Amino acid sequence: MSAIKIDGKAYAAGLRERITKAVSTLPAQPTLAVVLVGEDPASQVYVRNKAKFTVECGMRSLEHKLSEDISEDELVALVRSLNDDLEVDGILVQLPLPKGLNSDRVIEEIQPDKDVDGLTETSAGRLSLGKPGLRPCTPTGCVMLAKDALGELSGKNCVVLGRSILVGKPAALLFLEQNCTVTIAHSRTKNLEDVCRSADILVPAVGRPEMVKAEWIKPGACVIDVGINRIPHPSKPGKSKLVGDVDYKPSTEIAGSITPVPGGVGPMTIACLLRNTVIAACRRRGWETPSNLDF
Ligand code: GUN
Repeated sequence: MSAIKIDGKAYAAGLRERITKAVSTLPAQPTLAVVLVGEDPASQVYVRNKAKFTVECGMRSLEHKLSEDISEDELVALVRSLNDDLEVDGILVQLPLPKGLNSDRVIEEIQPDKDVDGLTETSAGRLSLGKPGLRPCTPTGCVMLAKDALGELSGKNCVVLGRSILVGKPAALLFLEQNCTVTIAHSRTKNLEDVCRSADILVPAVGRPEMVKAEWIKPGACVIDVGINRIPHPSKPGKSKLVGDVDYKPSTEIAGSITPVPGGVGPMTIACLLRNTVIAACRRRGWETPSNLDF
């Protein structure tokens, strides 16, 4: 292996330490409200971890766990009450919502200054216009890790593979904000392998296990793998394992730096959510945002 392994787990732990320090300097504790509807096991794990880390960083966690047969109007009413609650700094509605609930409508109800997931149309618009706002968490984590590996990103060729609303599109805009030359590649892109090979920073975010092969990577490139895919374990029957969108092992022989899966981008999402909660609290309450949260 010649590539440097970008340790997202360690970076996220360091970021949470910085957040804890920042929170300890604030006049009051920020509060994050998380709304979970239904019993989806993966979502339950996410929400439990969010609550645990929120409290560990010295903030307050409010959890609203709702039955999956709640009506859309009731859910909207809850979001509105959280908007109106002066103690609440950030609101996160865990996705996906159960069938029958329109997540677009529910997310759009979140007041933009409490939109710590960065998913409302206002937050997306602010990102695309280059105006200050709350940025989506996983894409922010990608930029932080690339900066940690490379330092200055200005002028680098960045190829984002995937154009999803949650990751691909906002990641492209965030790398553009860093003055990268950005290409968004997707399923209809011609000569996909060549496009990927032009990247100084390659950000696969398509959810296709090990799709990106070592030969697609420019020697020395920084690879930020957003994919988290569960596949049958190759040697342990009945077991499964997590892999990224990149064929990791051979790629470590070509890349200059690369995120592993698990332990790469994954742990950054919650850390960036906590960071957004502090930023949202400071902006809404008129406090100065602690400078140790910059990246
Ligand atoms: N479900 C999986 N990841 C996320 C996330 O980052 N935000 C929300 N709201 N739901 C999710």
